[in-house]
Amino acid sequence: MKFTVAIDGPAAAGKGTIAKAVAAHFGFAHLDTGLLYRAVGVLSQGDDPVKVARALSPDDLQRDDLRSAAAAELASKVAPNLDVRAALLTFQRDFARREGGAVLDGRDIGTVICPDAEVKLFVTASAEVRAKRRLAEFGPDASFNEVLADVLARDKRDAERSAAPMKPAQDALLLDTSNLSIDAAVTEAVANITKALEGRR
Ligand code: CDP
Repeated sequence: MKFTVAIDGPAAAGKGTIAKAVAAHFGFAHLDTGLLYRAVGVLSQGDDPVKVARALSPDDLQRDDLRSAAAAELASKVAPNLDVRAALLTFQRDFARREGGAVLDGRDIGTVICPDAEVKLFVTASAEVRAKRRLAEFGPDASFNEVLADVLARDKRDAERSAAPMKPAQDALLLDTSNLSIDAAVTEAVANITKALEGRR
């Protein structure tokens, strides 16, 4: 069975957690596409990002320095490059159509990578709530205002770029997690996917 769940949204809205939970629930494979851009950003410091993107291997996604705020920053700087995005397209589309179902989370999954995905979700939350969540992840060394400023700057870059800007697909279900617990958001996502799976039988 081929079945694709596309989950998009801004930083720290909860899409990664929801994607993981949904993949575990249905036994689908999960790809955090942000890791692709993070790996290209980290590996191309002083090198051509297009060359790095073309040579990227799944092993590169296992690096342990991809989760940092610095890697996120580097990612969002190589992400507007159309040739970088083109180099990463086939890997993502093949992943989405693998047997057994797939969940991909990112910025342009429902709009560009998998416009025919069976289910599309767009997960958002207010910038303040997202900055609080990131602060909880990074610990007391970061300041709220700094994290908030980073989140806002990255949102702006991701939403305003001309190549595959972050935006909800027309047929995406919006999940605003500002006042919704991640558990409740997962329940809503699971219900939506269950309905789509039943519709195919
Ligand atoms: O986890 P978080 O939401 O902070 O970031 P991420 O999903 O790992 O993405 C890091 C950066 O990669 C984003 O700010 C985007 O610039 C870029 N990205 C993208 O352009 N397209 C994707 N499908 C995923 C990430």
